[in-house]
Amino acid sequence: MNKQETRERIEKLKKEINKHRYQYHVLDKLDISDAAFDSLKHELKKLEDQFPGLITPDSPTQRVGGKPLPGFKKVRHKTTMLSLEDTFNPEEFKNWLERIQKLAPRSLIDFFTELKIDGFAVSLVYKNGILVEGSTRGDGKVGENVTQNLKTIEAIPLRLEIHTPRLPISMKAHQKLQRILEKGEFEVRGEVFMTKKAFDKINKKQKRKKLPTYANPRNTAAGSIRQLNPKIAASRELDFLAYDLITDIGQEKHSEEHKILSSVGFKTDKYARECKTIKEVIEFWEHIQKIREKLPHQIDGIVVNVNDNVTFQKLGIVGKAPRGAIAFKFPAEEATTVVEDIIIGIGRTGALTPIAVLEPVNIGGVIVKRASLHNMDEIKRLGLKIKDTVIIQRAGDVIPDVVKVLKNLRSKKAKNFHMPKNCPVCHGAVKKNGVAYRCVNKNCPAIKREGLYHFASRIAFNVVGLGPKILDRLYEEGLIKDAADIFTLKEEDLSQLERFGEKSAQNIINSIKRSEQISLARFIYALGILHVGQETAYDLANNFRNINELEKASLEELRSLPNVGEIVAKSIYDWFNKENNNHFVKKLLKVGVIIKNPKVKPDAQKLKSKIFVFTGELDRLTREEAEQKVRGLGGNPSGSVSSKTDYVVAGSKPGSKYNQAKKLGVKIITEQEFLKIIK
Ligand code: IVH
Repeated sequence: MNKQETRERIEKLKKEINKHRYQYHVLDKLDISDAAFDSLKHELKKLEDQFPGLITPDSPTQRVGGKPLPGFKKVRHKTTMLSLEDTFNPEEFKNWLERIQKLAPRSLIDFFTELKIDGFAVSLVYKNGILVEGSTRGDGKVGENVTQNLKTIEAIPLRLEIHTPRLPISMKAHQKLQRILEKGEFEVRGEVFMTKKAFDKINKKQKRKKLPTYANPRNTAAGSIRQLNPKIAASRELDFLAYDLITDIGQEKHSEEHKILSSVGFKTDKYARECKTIKEVIEFWEHIQKIREKLPHQIDGIVVNVNDNVTFQKLGIVGKAPRGAIAFKFPAEEATTVVEDIIIGIGRTGALTPIAVLEPVNIGGVIVKRASLHNMDEIKRLGLKIKDTVIIQRAGDVIPDVVKVLKNLRSKKAKNFHMPKNCPVCHGAVKKNGVAYRCVNKNCPAIKREGLYHFASRIAFNVVGLGPKILDRLYEEGLIKDAADIFTLKEEDLSQLERFGEKSAQNIINSIKRSEQISLARFIYALGILHVGQETAYDLANNFRNINELEKASLEELRSLPNVGEIVAKSIYDWFNKENNNHFVKKLLKVGVIIKNPKVKPDAQKLKSKIFVFTGELDRLTREEAEQKVRGLGGNPSGSVSSKTDYVVAGSKPGSKYNQAKKLGVKIITEQEFLKIIK
């Protein structure tokens, strides 16, 4: 391709990539696969590498670019970034309405309501349709220029174009919009946030690396935007929702702003709607409160706007907040209460988990009576004593956590907690191993029950309908003694249980039948071997042809597997070298369980004999993780560069290995490229 042809191809690719970005982020439609999307970006990058002169700031390749900044420049907002007044209940909310009705008596007030996303407000300025500046709120008048970091967020368009031809706004406004996108300035405000899923993922990674975990998605999102190195923001999977159009293009209502924003490429709140009456607003508030936990991101209430922009302007500003909008918040998800006692729960692996018994407290509409304390180390970290006053946090469906002890409120009655020396269920011995205390009695009924729950759970044998309550009854009635007995259950066994209908008995028998066939990975996972989680089970299934091979594996063999260290290998080896466990596996196969042969992973040897050297700090993986990945795909990590090295993966601040690689002409790749190779 000559330069002119490349220029044309680049333009087409950019348009196509932006179209798919719009489909995915704004319309929520996945019209091509991630791989195909990446492939388009890859081609664009290749062409731009050939002709760097053709790189433009709105190119999707420019999302992660630029070097770490020495500091953020200040930005003066042309229009002040205001905040909102808060209300917490329908009563207070009605007071607000009365106040504004007095100030705008003749205007017919209708509302536009939307989610109040718990994130970080930013302002985006586009010149001639291209993103030129993104800034934080700061004190409302002066913020910080964080453009580099905001560009890494794919939900933020780098170039604006009208995606929907028929916008429900006046012809004049439509024409003005078109003109401004071609030549003019367009300012948008919205919230940067992190989804709950992305937050969990990053915390899991922190835990794996034995680094401190982040407190909540909001602070993590804010922290990511205020990092001087844009690579950090890029690795955090941030998201963006636009809620305000600052530029006047003749929009008459706030609802129109959302439509305009969405049509030019911004993601907007799907739940936002017009409300004609106060009753509708309160119903919306109640409805959102109910579905709050199911939303992909955290919210702390709704925002109610006077929909008519002229009335909104007329209402003016008090202090730092406009009168025409209000935050209608939900009751807090944190509350204080007293820890009455600390009791012990026994997990499937025998681990003793301390649980705080609380003086019941209402948190966001739910009565909370228990909170997990995880382990003894956590109790020490919190400095918690029985009878202490604590702050409890409830986030979604997860078990509430004790986040803080209010030590100033400690009474004389407060007393220290000690882990029991004997299992509270079977009274067998308890042994300490790392941070965990475990009941070592293999016949402990508590461990057996937990093992049963685990066996039948969704990610193991997935016996639909066979949850803890029914399993408990079957166990208590002596109808099952171990998990293999599940497969010998008959309809009569179940229907004889008190309050158990024939229909539900039949349903469970059917789902047991459906669960008989299982993949090797799930089978291994279901066994509940200490330290063998889903991922390890999957790795084991990929390295052994069948369960017999795994049963016979030597300690050496297990140790040499990818992702299996000393402790895990020993745990697997010990499990399969106990007679009762072999007996259990045999019994499962006898009662009808059929293990489907694992498919041989096509790329298990993708990096066969390739030599990798790592230098510098990696963002996404620890050095060990990266090396394990290489081993897992048949390659060899090495500590020094030679002419035999296939790839040097250079992180930030690479060392002398980098220069050595350059000298020897060894291929140097970035962490991102490495991740692509191993994907
Ligand atoms: S409108 C006049 N709409 O809440 C201020 N704000 O407490 C314009 N926020 O600083 C704000 N979701 O960070 C608005 N749908 C939404 C919002 C929202 C979250 C945040 C925003 C603002 C703060 C005000």
